[in-house]
Amino acid sequence: MRSIAILEENKEKYLDQLIELLRIPSISADPKHKEDLVKASNWLKDHLETIGLENVNVYSTPGHPVVYAEKIIDKSLPTVLVYGHYDVQPPDPLDLWDSPPFEPVIKKTKIHPEGAIFARGSCDDKGQLFMHVKAIEAMIASQELDCNVKILFEGEEEVGSDNLENFLKANTELLQCDVVLISDSSVIANDVPSISVGLRGLSYAEVEVTGPNRDLHSGVYGGGVGNPINVLCEMIASLKDENKHITIPGFYDDVEDLTDEERSAIERIPFSIEEYQDDLKIESVEGEKGFHTLERTSTRPTLDVNGIWGGYIGKGAKTVLPSKAYAKISMRLVPNQSDDNITELFTKHFESIAPSSVKVKVTPHHGGLPAVTPINTPEYRAAAKAMEKTYGKEPIPVRGGGSIPIVSLFETILGVKTILMGFGLDSDDIHSPNEHYGLFNFYKGMETIPYFYKYYAELKS
Ligand code: BES
Ligand code: MN
Ligand code: MN
Repeated sequence: MRSIAILEENKEKYLDQLIELLRIPSISADPKHKEDLVKASNWLKDHLETIGLENVNVYSTPGHPVVYAEKIIDKSLPTVLVYGHYDVQPPDPLDLWDSPPFEPVIKKTKIHPEGAIFARGSCDDKGQLFMHVKAIEAMIASQELDCNVKILFEGEEEVGSDNLENFLKANTELLQCDVVLISDSSVIANDVPSISVGLRGLSYAEVEVTGPNRDLHSGVYGGGVGNPINVLCEMIASLKDENKHITIPGFYDDVEDLTDEERSAIERIPFSIEEYQDDLKIESVEGEKGFHTLERTSTRPTLDVNGIWGGYIGKGAKTVLPSKAYAKISMRLVPNQSDDNITELFTKHFESIAPSSVKVKVTPHHGGLPAVTPINTPEYRAAAKAMEKTYGKEPIPVRGGGSIPIVSLFETILGVKTILMGFGLDSDDIHSPNEHYGLFNFYKGMETIPYFYKYYAELKS
């Protein structure tokens, strides 16, 4: 295909363009960066216009802008809606980065001998959305675009996509399509291609535990009153039993057990526990008893503390009993569980286990529903065929552990299924310091995407 040649000829140029986009610190969670989200959305708009897309628009929302563009070549052809997010996670802690997060550099690593681009958002998700932009550019230029295409890029994925739901509801006509295509997930390895066929949901709450009305001398009062940090730790510890099973009443009620077949399919996924432990420099893994690590990280629900604070954390030792303690607690959910329901169960339970020596306040944050995508569809077959073409191996369907809250809403609001054809690696350190994206992955993604359009058009005709 001519578009493949165009992509090959322009590799360096495309990388330079991505670097420009990565330089914009579009951190959605941080109000200080609001203008940078505007900047990134305008950068994308300008870029989408130059590659020949039409009806290119930046829509403002009560939060960060949505970027839309389309190329309708023939109403009788199927329409692919490409979704991606241009917002990124905060880069903190900054001192753990080997190079500044918004000054991209290319470095070789053991897993990426051809080099990887180090920057916040390189893999999640600017690098991956940009592969689509370039693939579409090449298909337009070579007149090989076999489907209509619509683009929807948002700036609030990392903060729960709160305003995108209303955008979908208000623009169902505009966004009408046959399938949603997303690259915002990973493959098992560069020589083990895979397609994500599920995402977990998310329930997230912040808890505040208050003891005495003020900070106290830990000698004068210590031993006599409830220390909110001690109490919070005890409460958190009680949320799992000795088998690492979550103790919130009703938590597992809606969880569907996998069939034996599904479980043995997971067992067959190439996975080395030794390599996993070695990569993370841990002596052993930990998790819910009776489940494989790959089940624990994808098909089973979880509960984790993401942050915990309170009391004296400055230098040296200050002897003090704090008045307050806090934690941020997330629960990853699996099909059939609802985030609203789990948040309610968590809140009730957490309040009920608080001893009378403290008061607790639970504040829910954003959440999202889980999603599963079927594999017996033309769109899955098109994606699998495309990857088989470029990787030389049939991809393995695997359920992912992360969340993309909007996916379940594409189904309920637009009535379409999603294909999660991601090209990152789990070891690319998304959300962590030194996030990176392999050049192999960047180019392989661009090379694979045009085949998706080709095969999808064929399978749908
Ligand atoms: N791209 C990730 C989700 C992801 C990662 C899916 C790896 C599959 C494999 C996405 O940007 C993300 O981080 N989502 C958040 C959602 C939350 C902020 C509502 C998540 O999973 O924590
Ligand atoms: Mn993402
Ligand atoms: Mn993310």
